[in-house]
Amino acid sequence: MLSLISILGFACALAARVAALNPVVVHEQEFSDSVTNDRFVIIGIDYQPGGQGAYGTGSGDPLSNGTTCLRDAALMQQLGVNTIRCYNVDPSLDHNDCVSIFDSVGIYILIDVNAPVPGLSIDRSNPSSSYTTSYLQHIFTVVEAFKSFPNTLGFFAGNEIINDVATGQANPPYIRAVQRDLKNYIAAHAPRTIPVGYSAADVQEVLQDTWAYLQCKNSNGTNDASRSDFFGLNSYSWCGSHSSYTISGYSTLVETFSNTTIPIFLSEYGCNDPAPRVFDEVTTLYGPQMTTLSGGLVYQYTQDSSNYGLVQTYGNGTAQLLGDYDTLMGQYDKIDVSLLASSNSTATSLQPPQCNADLISSDGFSTDFNIPNPPNGVDQLIKSGVPNAPTGSIVSVTRTSVQVAVYATNGARLSGLEIQAVSTANSPGQSRSGLSTGAVASATASSSADTSSTSAGGSGSASSTGAAASAKASSGAYRFGAGFAGAAVVIGAGAFAL
Ligand SMILES: *[C@@H]1O[C@H](CO)[C@@H](O)[C@H](O)[C@H]1NC(C)=O
Ligand SMILES: *[C@@H]1O[C@H](CO)[C@@H](O)[C@H](O)[C@H]1NC(C)=O
Ligand SMILES: *[C@@H]1O[C@H](CO)[C@@H](O)[C@H](O)[C@H]1NC(C)=O
Ligand SMILES: *[C@@H]1O[C@H](CO)[C@@H](O)[C@H](O)[C@H]1NC(C)=O
Ligand SMILES: *[C@@H]1O[C@H](CO)[C@@H](O)[C@H](O)[C@H]1NC(C)=O
Repeated sequence: MLSLISILGFACALAARVAALNPVVVHEQEFSDSVTNDRFVIIGIDYQPGGQGAYGTGSGDPLSNGTTCLRDAALMQQLGVNTIRCYNVDPSLDHNDCVSIFDSVGIYILIDVNAPVPGLSIDRSNPSSSYTTSYLQHIFTVVEAFKSFPNTLGFFAGNEIINDVATGQANPPYIRAVQRDLKNYIAAHAPRTIPVGYSAADVQEVLQDTWAYLQCKNSNGTNDASRSDFFGLNSYSWCGSHSSYTISGYSTLVETFSNTTIPIFLSEYGCNDPAPRVFDEVTTLYGPQMTTLSGGLVYQYTQDSSNYGLVQTYGNGTAQLLGDYDTLMGQYDKIDVSLLASSNSTATSLQPPQCNADLISSDGFSTDFNIPNPPNGVDQLIKSGVPNAPTGSIVSVTRTSVQVAVYATNGARLSGLEIQAVSTANSPGQSRSGLSTGAVASATASSSADTSSTSAGGSGSASSTGAAASAKASSGAYRFGAGFAGAAVVIGAGAFAL
């Protein structure tokens, strides 16, 4: 008996190190948790601190600084986010702290393998010249960096390469070629299948053709690696409180994609004109009319000159919540999370059509399904792997308290902001312990009655700071323990089986 107890104790200690999210898999129209089989719907935020131009400037990438990741993971956990999208990652940097922190709070990561730099992405004006061995080696190196994290949800092989009918002529076969090469690389070198897909521009005239071209099955065998595993759509069509399901065109999206055999989600959304945003689209996007879609990602977490931010961050690590953060939280809180988790057996039984020119409706969009062969040397690179590529892995998350200053929308400094370890995907309302000025708690309470008052609801609530902070600290500690204990049961069983 004693030895059993010590084995259990050992298993618990081990579990504290390796507790991790279950990988997500694709089942035709839906993402699902590979262990529980619950449907997984993206409640996401686009995350590119430093902005679009940060790549290669020496300021790192969004997943390379544990101090800022801890701050942002805590704020996103409170908000209810379960996925971030990271553009422009640098595969030579160490991402272990950041990805482990996001994993520990129940947040998955979508990675863009490209960077907006010549040679590190497909040039839409001349795809054949940019589809090179060195380009492919770069994106395989990105796969190496993120392949071993359980919370890597997927890789975007391309973003907005097609942006009109003209660019829909030469580019589609190259997008499929890049997807094929990434998927073959993953099959040869990753510990599991990781989905690979595309993020489409908000251009109505090519949207349906792009999806139809990328989702079809291009051979009669099972080995059609060039097909997309998911389809992201950047959409800014729902603007302000006067829009609606039909005015925004969301109803058309649902009709167009009703038979999709790959998950479709909004890889960017959140029109910011008029401002401030009210995020009325959230309840529709996650409501019963739109279950065909797998959610979306709000553009974007950090404020910059394009004025889409939820949070203003500074070089010294200080962060200031903006009104949109509170408003979005109020809308997220209305999501019926149990609706999202239920799978639709019709949707997960749909089979993709065979690729065929009849699937394409615009004159001028490619109907060529002959996918270019990989450039010289790439077959060998896929076989042997990129030499000396750094490979990330989950590490133990030891720091849980946010050390930098974070200010609520009313100007009060948050105290007791910390992350809470969990072992399942985060969801809205699950964690509210760190926003202890009370600003957001009261905003949320009033949100279902009147969303326009959410930021106003935040003012005047700083008085609760002290009490809430100490209540917080203890409940946080409790949940932290519970999260690890829950995980220990699973891991313990695994250890016994060994
Ligand atoms: C796939 O099968 C269909 C129906 O059997 C056939 O018409 C088509 O030519 C086949 N395509 C390929 C690429 O083999
Ligand atoms: C979806 O598939 C069904 C059954 O195959 C078909 O009747 C329907 O027309 C399709 N809808 C669209 C929008 O393609
Ligand atoms: C960080 O920088 C911001 C903006 O310059 C400033 O307002 C704030 O006081 C600084 N915080 C600390 C802790 O130095
Ligand atoms: C990480 O970010 C913090 C806060 O912005 C900054 O003070 C620190 O220097 C950064 N660390 C590295 C290694 O860049
Ligand atoms: C289930 O999926 C099918 C195919 O997409 C769709 O026609 C049907 O409306 C869905 N059912 C529900 C309850 O959403």
